[in-house]
Amino acid sequence: MAQYDVIFIGSGPGGYVGAIRAAQLGLKTACVEGRETLGGTCLNIGCIPSKALLHATEMLHEAEHNFAEMGLKGKAPSVDWAQMLAYKDKTVGQNTGGIEFLFKKNKVDWLKGWGSIPEAGRVKVGDEVHEAKHIIIATGSEPSSLPGIEVDEKTVVTSEGALKLSKVPKSMVVIGAGVIGLELGSVYARLGTEVTVVEYLDAITPGQDADTAKQFHKLLKKQGLNFHLGCAVQEVTTKNNKATVKYKSRKDDSESEITADVVLVATGRKPFTDGLGLSDLGIETTKGGQVKVDGHYKTSIDGVYAIGDAIEGPMLAHKAEDEGMAVAEGIAGQKPHVNYGVIPGVIYTHPEVASVGETEESLKEQGRKYKVGKFSFMGNARAKAYFQGDGFVKILADAETDRVLGAHLIGPMAGDLIHEICVAMEFGAAAEDIARTCHAHPTFSEAVREAALACGDGAIHM
Ligand code: NAI
Repeated sequence: MAQYDVIFIGSGPGGYVGAIRAAQLGLKTACVEGRETLGGTCLNIGCIPSKALLHATEMLHEAEHNFAEMGLKGKAPSVDWAQMLAYKDKTVGQNTGGIEFLFKKNKVDWLKGWGSIPEAGRVKVGDEVHEAKHIIIATGSEPSSLPGIEVDEKTVVTSEGALKLSKVPKSMVVIGAGVIGLELGSVYARLGTEVTVVEYLDAITPGQDADTAKQFHKLLKKQGLNFHLGCAVQEVTTKNNKATVKYKSRKDDSESEITADVVLVATGRKPFTDGLGLSDLGIETTKGGQVKVDGHYKTSIDGVYAIGDAIEGPMLAHKAEDEGMAVAEGIAGQKPHVNYGVIPGVIYTHPEVASVGETEESLKEQGRKYKVGKFSFMGNARAKAYFQGDGFVKILADAETDRVLGAHLIGPMAGDLIHEICVAMEFGAAAEDIARTCHAHPTFSEAVREAALACGDGAIHM
């Protein structure tokens, strides 16, 4: 029987990052993974493959819409779908292979197979039982469909099937205007698919700063996506390789239906803890199926911890990574801390949407006094040259102290620009601190500085 200090179950961003950190801190570490490759949902069937398709189709959009104006003449490229999927798969392979390399480098053992916890201190993988002082559940999440919908991953798909369709569909209905629906909906809209998004709420991207969501909605409509908001999907039926979505307006209860080649169900995800033996072990879970943990990621059973999508909080790879590192550092005797107030969220559409901290709505709800510094990318020289003037940077700062409370960006490289604000927030900076920091010209980052200036005496280029 192999003996370990720590065994992580699951090799997604939470498990693999935590395992590497644990090994770096001198703990004898293993990571259990039943998939053929490491990296979990994110690397295999989530963040990474979707980003490859987003990038490829953004290039196509650029060629179709902006090349001629830049003096780049000739026919726009046509789509070789099989090659685009091969490029996506190659990107995935490079990344999953990279984790395998990092495991070897850091001496993390990969225990191949699906793990379960027969009792505290033991992890069963296949027929083998391994001992571990600390066991971390890092098993992630899986798509949660709706009653009345049967997913076949061909005509009615989740994000997994949407990343490997046999051909580019002529029409697609996306159920849910959340992150997955809009990222993958954008991919297919750019490939020429007629995309219709049906969303239960009256706005897209629930929880997003309302002003930003409104602008985002406007830009997506301009890109050709159709939206039916305030509509609850009731049922999806399939016939002759087509699917029909029945939905009801929440306003007047009127019923409608749309038929399409493919239906993408993107109505959220739920923790994936099947087969771990949690209930036999007596591990407490929430109503939503998340594993209950304390502030140190400890479950109700001694020596068993949980992190990432398996516990409460935003289902984000980087949140799982931070928790993976924190749990490893805690076990090694350090005093780690994850600042849940500064976890950025990014939607990798074009333009990107990024946010961190409070929204105007959450600040109003708390009755807090705040000021808004907003700067349009229309005033940013670099963005204009790149045909990317649509969008803005919006910084929310405390009305009295000027401390940065949140930020919402929509525009070029928003997912990268947001980190300047994250660092500022981690250090408790004021908007003036960002405004007084010299920013190179001409960069997209200048728009961040301008928004910070707008929190004070005013932006220069507006
Ligand atoms: P989501 O929770 O972001 O959005 C689901 C949407 O479906 C909501 O707007 C909801 O109102 C709607 N909906 C639910 N039931 C409905 C019904 N019957 N009819 C119509 N609409 C309905 O979930 P999504 O997009 O599936 O993403 C799952 C998780 O994965 C999220 O936590 C997300 O943050 C994460 N994710 C993050 C990414 C990123 O950071 N870029 C990329 C992909 C996923």
